[in-house]
Amino acid sequence: KRPAGAPDKELARKVTKVGVIGAGLMASQFALLFVRRLKVPVVITDLDQERVDKGVAYIHDEIQKLLEKGRIKQDDANQLQALVTGTTNKADFADCDWVIEAVFEELGVKQDVFADVEQYISPEAVLATNTSSLSVEQIGSKLKHPERLVGFHFFNPVAVMPLIEVVKTPATNDETLSTAMVTAAKLYKNAVITRDTPGFVVNRILAKVLGEAMHAVDTGTPFEVVEESTRPFGLPMTPFELLELVGLKVGAHVLDTHHAAFPDRFFESTNLHKLADLGRIFERDAKGRIKGI
Ligand code: CAA
Repeated sequence: KRPAGAPDKELARKVTKVGVIGAGLMASQFALLFVRRLKVPVVITDLDQERVDKGVAYIHDEIQKLLEKGRIKQDDANQLQALVTGTTNKADFADCDWVIEAVFEELGVKQDVFADVEQYISPEAVLATNTSSLSVEQIGSKLKHPERLVGFHFFNPVAVMPLIEVVKTPATNDETLSTAMVTAAKLYKNAVITRDTPGFVVNRILAKVLGEAMHAVDTGTPFEVVEESTRPFGLPMTPFELLELVGLKVGAHVLDTHHAAFPDRFFESTNLHKLADLGRIFERDAKGRIKGI
């Protein structure tokens, strides 16, 4: 029996073509997952052809790696590569029934991206956002059909992290929620339905850990002391390694969003902003030990 509150699988729409907006690392990673698991055409777009080509090239490289590792056969590799195309023409999204974005984490940018793509797609097509901490309801505020918008938050590295946070807004309808849950299962991911609150569940917790680690540095504890102190926790990565994985800009943005929402509970980090603005990562010695700024 379906648990109370769980969406009825029967309501899920069939996904026959996926549109991906954004061709950065996160978007390219999940574009690969969609094509690999759903085996449907996946079309990727970004601001210009160069970015699009880079995203498509990343996916082709990853398909080659899967082939070399023996995870897929040559025929599968050829089929998957043929299913992935890049475009700068939104009209190529017209027949997509699932469109997901991972563009820059700025509310206005995401609102405009969806309002724009909505002109090209059918009113039933699902729109999904991979936002990590913005309000999904606000992202959909310029949509004609906000009921087809859902949060669909992947974690880095997408291929290995087992969770997707499915974010329901007050407007999200049952068909959309059900399509999101069924799609997550087809991607072999565990999906949890979360409330539309800053950071949802996972980033709320991570922001605490990463924010405290950076705050320790900002208030005078050396990077190496903080890092070595966190190793015995048994987590797969230290807070600074995790920040490097998700990207310092993304990390700084996540901390800012939490600080804005809960100023008495979350820190902004001056050092993290400084490093992110300089496009730097942490310096590490030959053994991978952090040296600080
Ligand atoms: N990209 C793609 N695949 C990667 C990868 C990466 N950056 N890093 C590792 N992998 C893959 C490897 O290729 C390997 O796959 P195969 O089994 O197919 O060969 C698999 O992951 C395991 O890798 P390793 O054995 O080399 O490494 P490991 O056992 O040390 O695990 C890890 C690596 C899975 C990344 C592990 O360190 C881990 O779980 N780290 C924590 C990651 C995490 O917490 N992510 C959430 C970040 S928060 C976020 O993303 C949300 C946000 O909005 C900011």
